[in-house]
Amino acid sequence: MIIAANLKTNLTRKQTAEYIAELENYVSNGSTQEVLVFPAMSSLDSYDGKVIVGAQNAYPTQNGAFTGEIGTEQLDEFGIKTILIGHSERRHVLGETQEELVKKFNFYKELGYKIVYCIGEPLEKREAGKEEMMKYISTQYKGIDTSYENLIIAYEPVWAIGTGLTPTLEDIENIHTDLKEKSTAPLLYGGSVKVTNAQEVLALKNVDGILVGSAALYVEHFCTMIGYAQKLQK
Ligand code: 13P
Repeated sequence: MIIAANLKTNLTRKQTAEYIAELENYVSNGSTQEVLVFPAMSSLDSYDGKVIVGAQNAYPTQNGAFTGEIGTEQLDEFGIKTILIGHSERRHVLGETQEELVKKFNFYKELGYKIVYCIGEPLEKREAGKEEMMKYISTQYKGIDTSYENLIIAYEPVWAIGTGLTPTLEDIENIHTDLKEKSTAPLLYGGSVKVTNAQEVLALKNVDGILVGSAALYVEHFCTMIGYAQKLQK
């Protein structure tokens, strides 16, 4: 399975290095799970090991005049070939449009990056009923090559991110089953995954892994979740 940590705007460069060292130590002790970590931009570095380190964001460029952004020249320095695209915070807090995300997706796809592409509905779309909600989610697939071989999709309901709220297990399974019809890419669930619910979520049909935010900041919690996946042997 794929167990991913999005560290968002947390941890210093030193703390991240310690985090990844601890994680590597755990993972190299017999785990067969695919473990991804997305540190803050200033904590990116060359990490040689089983843990795959990716960028939370980058601009679709090699280099140039894009103040505040990084491109492949900076990612190449650290051998980074994995990127998160379309996270709800980039869509809803930072205002990235589907058009911009498609541009980014195509640029990094061309270069063969492993792309974790995030989708998910805000609360008002969920409350508008299943049909409305799926219609909204479909717009997030627009322009995206869903058969790209290095694609991983993460379903993260916006209202479940950082709130402690999650859909019911039945809802997660149903939505994942519907989403699998749009793409056979591995499908992760994200949004308030904790040590207390990760095992049940991972066990669901059509859940191929998890994308964890706040609970992953504790490396021991994140390792526990990797251990759950290992036990499930899905
Ligand atoms: P939380 O696990 O904090 O809800 O965040 C999920 C997330 O946004 C992962 O990308």
